[in-house]
Amino acid sequence: MSKSLRKQILERGDLPTHIAIIMDGNGRWAKSRNLPRFSGHIEGINSVREIVRVCGEIGVSYLTLYTFSSENWNRPQKEVSAIMKLLLSTIKKEIKNLHKNNVRLSTIGNLADLPSDSRQGMLDGIEMTKNNLGLNLNLALSYGSRQELLRAVRRIADKIQSGEMTQDQISEEIMSRELYTANVPDPDLLIRTGGEARISNFLLWQSAYTEFYMTDNFWPEFREKELLNSILEYQTRQRRFGQTGEQVSA
Ligand code: IPE
Ligand code: IPE
Ligand code: MG
Repeated sequence: MSKSLRKQILERGDLPTHIAIIMDGNGRWAKSRNLPRFSGHIEGINSVREIVRVCGEIGVSYLTLYTFSSENWNRPQKEVSAIMKLLLSTIKKEIKNLHKNNVRLSTIGNLADLPSDSRQGMLDGIEMTKNNLGLNLNLALSYGSRQELLRAVRRIADKIQSGEMTQDQISEEIMSRELYTANVPDPDLLIRTGGEARISNFLLWQSAYTEFYMTDNFWPEFREKELLNSILEYQTRQRRFGQTGEQVSA
């Protein structure tokens, strides 16, 4: 099944270069099985492992995973600290395998907000994999797009104040360069699991012309087949970027 889906996708040829995913629905997955919310986060890691592997295998260049938002700090303290511990134990357990598979790890967001051991675990993983040339796996951690935009505005304002640049030099390129995603192309495909149809403060600037794919599957249920189906659907879309259909198909 998945084999033939893979074949179809690769034959069509226009694989998304960058896939971003809002991994939502862990808590509801657990609830629907009468399990504590936390077991949804644990099962969600199995989806992460599988999606990372498949993206690497089919040749996706960038995968950005919304792992923890700026607003997720407002969850009950017990859940927040359990997620932070899970983050650390997962990265410690998985990093060797990621490295072996040529994955290059990076993060976006305010890493300084993380507890120091979780932050250090991430930094160690980034350092270990920094020369890898396979899949770029980018984890959005303590990430909020509005906060990212404000940070960019402040950085630009600093440069103007110090005389490094002038106001009329502000452009889309300059703005993009001051975001966490400076060296990353905009996402081609943005997937949201868990049935909600909202962006929840994720990649507001970067997703201006991204194709959205929403699914009712909870994140722990989202595996190879679901990913391949989302890519197949993406491949049927016509990206017009404001132009007419005739223009872009010419
Ligand atoms: C996504 O699942 C994981 C995080 C936001 C950390 P949720 O925990 O939001 O699951 P639901 O939306 O409550 O089902
Ligand atoms: C978005 O999910 C954040 C992550 C998946 C990390 P949320 O569960 O926090 O989103 P809302 O609160 O339902 O919008
Ligand atoms: Mg949620």
